[in-house]
Amino acid sequence: MSTILITGWLGYIWSHAAVVFAQKWYDIVIIDNLSNTNLSVLEKLTTLIGKFTWRSRQPKFYQIDLKNTEEVRKVFHENKIDGVIHFAAFKAVEESCEDPFKYYENNISGGVSLYKVMNEFWIKNIVFSSSCTVYDTMNVTPPYDEQTPKKTINPYGSTKRMSEIILEDLSTHKGFNTILLRYFNPIGAHPSGLIGENPKGIPNNLLPYIYKVATGEYEFLNVRGNDYPTPDGTCIRDYLHVMDLAEAHVLAYEYLQKNKKFIPSSAGPEWFLDVFNLGTGQGTSVLEMIQLTEKAIDKKITYKIWPRRPWDAPTVYANPSKANTILGRKTQRTISEAIQDGWRFITKNNS
Ligand code: UFG
Repeated sequence: MSTILITGWLGYIWSHAAVVFAQKWYDIVIIDNLSNTNLSVLEKLTTLIGKFTWRSRQPKFYQIDLKNTEEVRKVFHENKIDGVIHFAAFKAVEESCEDPFKYYENNISGGVSLYKVMNEFWIKNIVFSSSCTVYDTMNVTPPYDEQTPKKTINPYGSTKRMSEIILEDLSTHKGFNTILLRYFNPIGAHPSGLIGENPKGIPNNLLPYIYKVATGEYEFLNVRGNDYPTPDGTCIRDYLHVMDLAEAHVLAYEYLQKNKKFIPSSAGPEWFLDVFNLGTGQGTSVLEMIQLTEKAIDKKITYKIWPRRPWDAPTVYANPSKANTILGRKTQRTISEAIQDGWRFITKNNS
């Protein structure tokens, strides 16, 4: 069976993808520098993989910073890797505006170090975690398909777009087979409640913050603006269950395997590159998310209207039809299920 390398600074998304890949009998090697997660995620992942796949073969874990090229090289020496699912990135938009260098260093330099080693070892298959934040969400009306004009408005988004451009170059000139996945807003958790989203510090994202209000840790949610040009004045986003997102990675990797090329020809290397949105196509406002959460977990969510967050786009949702048609993905889980699954994780981890 094929071995994939998963890179993560996002304990949240990569852990869910790892479970799905393991269920499909892939062998998994993980690189994470543990900057946004800790080893307990790995223990839980091991439990889950054992439980759902009855497998004795567990993921091999390396605590490495991708910028350390020599250490990354060792991983490629020690394992026969077939392809890479590259998640590792910092992702807090506001923080990226305060400290862009941290984002360039981690998201760009870390990636370049990885791609360099991939190229050396002739491992040219990569699925990259990009974001809908690459689209010109301020000027173009949604839904956004993959052809939507691009314009980033913060360093985080710029690192995603720059990474896409680097991978486009590496496809054209170095024969990389690349799939770019542009995520909309992943939420929820594995239904077991064993793994989920547990950000260090104050959560940046909406649902993790709402959960802190539901547990009583925070008194209220700050709704960041209610004067946007949307039906209830609050921002609209396309929330999708993290398991739906995780499953799409396996479909994308299988699609890449079917279509990959890297036979160098006299005209230069041959390559494959494609890009897919991962969203549901359904928009939900902040106030609707509050109502859905209250209903799904039977808790009151107190909120106050607060000033707008700088650079928030009023409405963002996907045209997901390309991934649905070509990869054969489907949105299988509702937002309410995602909220309940995420809540199960929070309550298990708080008890
Ligand atoms: N919001 C609040 N209060 C909060 C947190 C968020 O009102 O405490 C609002 C935001 O203003 C926004 C909406 O909830 O309107 C969603 O905010 P999130 O931070 O959850 O999600 P974003 O859409 O801003 O950002 C997410 C990811 C990014 C990704 C981006 C792409 O965090 O990594 O989607 O649109 F780039």
